[in-house]
Amino acid sequence: MKDSFGREIEYMRVSVTDRCSLRCRYCMPEGIKLTDRNEILSFEEIVRVCECAAKLGINTVRVTGGEPLARKNCPKLISMIKGISGIEKVTMTTNGVLLREHLDELVLAGIDGINISLDTLKAERYEYITGRDCLSRVTGAVEACLDTGISLKINSVIISGVNDDEIADLASLAKENPLDVRFIEMMPIGSGRDYPPLRGEDVRKRVEAEFGKGKKDISLHGKGPARYYRHDGFKGSIGYIDAVNNSFCSSCNRVRLTSDGKLKSCLCYDEGADLKEALRTEGMHDGESVTDLIREAVLSKPLMHCFDETEKITEKKRMVSIGG
Ligand code: 5AD
Ligand code: SF4
Repeated sequence: MKDSFGREIEYMRVSVTDRCSLRCRYCMPEGIKLTDRNEILSFEEIVRVCECAAKLGINTVRVTGGEPLARKNCPKLISMIKGISGIEKVTMTTNGVLLREHLDELVLAGIDGINISLDTLKAERYEYITGRDCLSRVTGAVEACLDTGISLKINSVIISGVNDDEIADLASLAKENPLDVRFIEMMPIGSGRDYPPLRGEDVRKRVEAEFGKGKKDISLHGKGPARYYRHDGFKGSIGYIDAVNNSFCSSCNRVRLTSDGKLKSCLCYDEGADLKEALRTEGMHDGESVTDLIREAVLSKPLMHCFDETEKITEKKRMVSIGG
C-alpha cells in the first residue's frame, strides 16, 4: 500500500529477538537489559502480522534481531513466513556467528538472501568491536554461504580511527567473490550516537583511490536504500548506505516490527503501532484489528528522519531491539 506521501510500502523488517551473541559497542554494549520473554512475539504472532501485512502489499520480509539465529528454530520461522500468500522474498540479516550450523536448514526453508555484518577482517579488532573472539566463525560462514550460491551481502559500518584503514580490504571481498559489500553510515541511534559517522562519500573516495572509479550499478539488488557501484575486475558490487548524509527517505519502502510487537514506521521516531495487545486479544472483543493498526501506522509514516538534528530523535531504543 502507499503511505500518505505516495511511497509504496512493500518491505517489512521483522526483529525476532533482542538477544545477540555479540556485544558490538555501537549497538549492544555489555550489561543492557533484555526484554522479558513473554513480551516477545511468538512465531504464530509474527506470522499473523506478516499475513496481515501481506494483504496490505508487503511482499518482502527481512528477519533480523538482535541476532535472529539466537532465537531457537529461526529457520522454521523463515519457512512459515515463506508459506504466506503474497510474500515473495524472505531474507535475513545475521552477525554470522551461528550461521554455518544453520545454513542447510535455511537453504531448505527457502531463504532468498543473507546479509552478514562484518566490520573488520582482523581478529583482535573484531573482538574489540564486538566483544567476542568470533571472527573465524564469521569468515567461515561467508565461505559456506558462497558455496551454497545464496545471494550474499556483507554489511560494514566504518568508524573513524577504528576500522577506516580496512575500507579497501573489505571492498576486496567483492573483488574476489560474487557478493556485495555495503558500507553503512553510523546512525545516531542508541550507542551509535557516540560514534560520529564517516561520510559514505568519503568511504567511496577511499574505495576509488584503491580500485578506480566504479560504474553506477542500477541492476536490481533487492529493495534497499544502497547505491551500488561496480568496479572493473570485481565479481560483486560495492554499495553505500548513506543513512545520515544522503537521505533516501523519499524512496523509503519499509516498516519495522520489533521483537515485542511494535510496528515502527521510521527508524528515527518512537511512532507506529503496538500490535501485541491486538494480537493477544484478537477475536475477544471489537478492538482494532491487526490489519487496521498496520494500515494506520503506514499512513502516519513520517516524511523523513532527523538524524542531522539529533535532539528531535524520539526513538530511545537501541539498534539491537530495532533490528537495523
Ligand atoms: N548505525 C548503523 N548501523 C548500525 N548497525 C547497528 N547499529 C547501527 C548504527 N547505529 C548495523 C549493524 C548490522 C546491522 C543489523 O545494523 O552493524 O550490520
Ligand atoms: Fe549483535 Fe548485530 Fe548489534 Fe552486533 S550489530 S550487537 S551483531 S545485533
